[in-house]
Amino acid sequence: MKKTKVLLIGAGGQLGSELTQGLWKIYGQENVVASDIKDAQGILKEGPYEKFDVMQRDRLFELIRKYEITQIYHLAALLSATGEKDPRWAWKLNMESLLFVLEAAHELKLHKVYWPSSIAAFGPTTPKQNTPQDTIMDPTTVYGITKLAGERWCEYYFRRYGVDVRSLRYPGLIGYKTPPGGGTTDYAVDIYFKAI
Ligand SMILES: NC(=O)c1ccc[n+]([C@@H]2O[C@H](COP(=O)([O-])OP(=O)(O)OC[C@H]3O[C@@H](n4cnc5c(N)ncnc54)[C@H](O)[C@@H]3O)[C@@H](O)[C@H]2O)c1
Repeated sequence: MKKTKVLLIGAGGQLGSELTQGLWKIYGQENVVASDIKDAQGILKEGPYEKFDVMQRDRLFELIRKYEITQIYHLAALLSATGEKDPRWAWKLNMESLLFVLEAAHELKLHKVYWPSSIAAFGPTTPKQNTPQDTIMDPTTVYGITKLAGERWCEYYFRRYGVDVRSLRYPGLIGYKTPPGGGTTDYAVDIYFKAI
């Protein structure tokens, strides 16, 4: 079994900046390659870092080979509020980047992929009490539509090719280390930055 080497895509965001440090503790700083379309900021400058646009499929494959990556955490996405400003781009970025990662996982035989879904995959007619895992899913935002479609793509790659891909439907998650990225819960972060 190859040594675990992680590539984190979208590491400069709310989740990524925290997750990178969590993964450093588990796998060792040298075994976690953080990446984002932005330059490395704050604590991310201390570990391996690649400035990288996930829409560059060839570069993704190149990085996986270069660092002998075995696991990918794919966090880069256009979030709910920002997605409504440019729905076409939200669809393209969120879907194509996920497909690139799933294709890479299949073709380069990665051990594991993690890709977060969201409660945005639910809609107004989803039961609100004890919401079941399998239930009415009628998302009303382009972001929610990409999360629901993404869940199906992950399931497809697992069933068809045996790719070990895992996901959780997160509620609103916030952090204080990075500015808000355009999600519906980001006001809770934004008010503190604005107050300061
Ligand atoms: N924060 C939440 O409340 C929440 C809830 C449910 C699901 N999620 C999911 O978790 C993931 C991370 O969310 P977040 O809150 O950290 O978002 P965020 O906007 O703070 O971070 C996303 C990061 O992706 C980067 N990125 C954007 N386009 C890129 C590209 N083309 N190539 C490389 N990097 C790119 C951005 O620069 C940013 O640093 C997303 O998939 C999101 O849908 C978040």
